[in-house]
Amino acid sequence: MASAILLVGGFGTRLMPLTKNTPKPMLTVAGIPVTEHQLNMAKAAGITRIVLATSYLAELFTPYFGDGSKWGMQIQYAVEKSPLGTGGAIRNAAKLISSSESIVILNGDVLSSHNLTEQIHQHEEHDADVTLHLTKVEDARAFGCVPTESNGRVTAFLEKMEQPVTNQINAGCYVFSPRVLESIPVDTVVSVERETFPALVASGAAMYGYVDSAYWVDIGTPHALMDASIEIVKRNGDFLIMPGSKVDPTARLTGGTSISANSQISAGAMIESSIIESDCYIGSNAQISGSYVSRGTKVKDGAKIVSSFVTNDEIIPIP
Ligand code: GDD
Ligand code: MG
Repeated sequence: MASAILLVGGFGTRLMPLTKNTPKPMLTVAGIPVTEHQLNMAKAAGITRIVLATSYLAELFTPYFGDGSKWGMQIQYAVEKSPLGTGGAIRNAAKLISSSESIVILNGDVLSSHNLTEQIHQHEEHDADVTLHLTKVEDARAFGCVPTESNGRVTAFLEKMEQPVTNQINAGCYVFSPRVLESIPVDTVVSVERETFPALVASGAAMYGYVDSAYWVDIGTPHALMDASIEIVKRNGDFLIMPGSKVDPTARLTGGTSISANSQISAGAMIESSIIESDCYIGSNAQISGSYVSRGTKVKDGAKIVSSFVTNDEIIPIP
């Protein structure tokens, strides 16, 4: 097991305005892009080859991740001219992996601390067709509902129901056997959630859930993304400063604020519960709270910004 596909081609509609110029997986959480958190997680499970299945704003991934050598990984890019849906994207990316081994698939907008090594292990033990990471949420309506038998076998896959039959949901990390990959048609728009998985259940395929309730979050809305960043930063202190950034000693960073690489925070600035991306300049005595400051933004001296998405061109309230 050495390969994974990251699904990073969605539009991120619910994350507007944050996704105006940035694909959702390249948004910053706790100082680094969401995708980089996922690379680190995959690497910890022994995965060294990754294909990024891209579509929307595909060109923004390559300058950051390159060939992956900086992470000790081999990264390739599969670009869809127009979005092929989750299943079509997986099939398209699989063309770059000539593997007889199982492949891990990750939704690109999920942060998870679940035990991927154990999920892969369980997949192999069952000689399964697909093994889905499942977790429990309070409100399952926005997710894929996945009821299972007591032995973990999946009995249905019900994407986004109004009246969920269970609060056990698809957490967006799958192990696929090569035979399942081959069953998806090439160059065709396919949804794994609405087509492939229900069809596999109907055909009696060996589809299992791997239930793990470790930290898990879908960063699909601005609030979910901001909260995730704050929570992760707070695990190790009240703020996070990435290498290459300069913070004046009289500036105050609080409430899980993160400063990405190569930014400068001037004297007297107060930044609370915010995400400051790389290459930003925050002027003296600026006050920023609950906001997302986009890469390369210059914030004026004394500016007061609350719950906003900030670029050099505009300051938009975060809904
Ligand atoms: N390359 C590519 N092409 N990627 C895509 C495409 C596409 O056409 N469409 C979606 N993706 C990527 C998105 O970027 C995202 O990383 C992932 O596929 C899932 O798409 P979302 O749009 O985020 O789906 P969702 O959040 O509504 O639901 C999915 O995730 C839930 C868990 O967070 C489903 O898999 C649910 O079943 C699941 O519960
Ligand atoms: Mg999502």
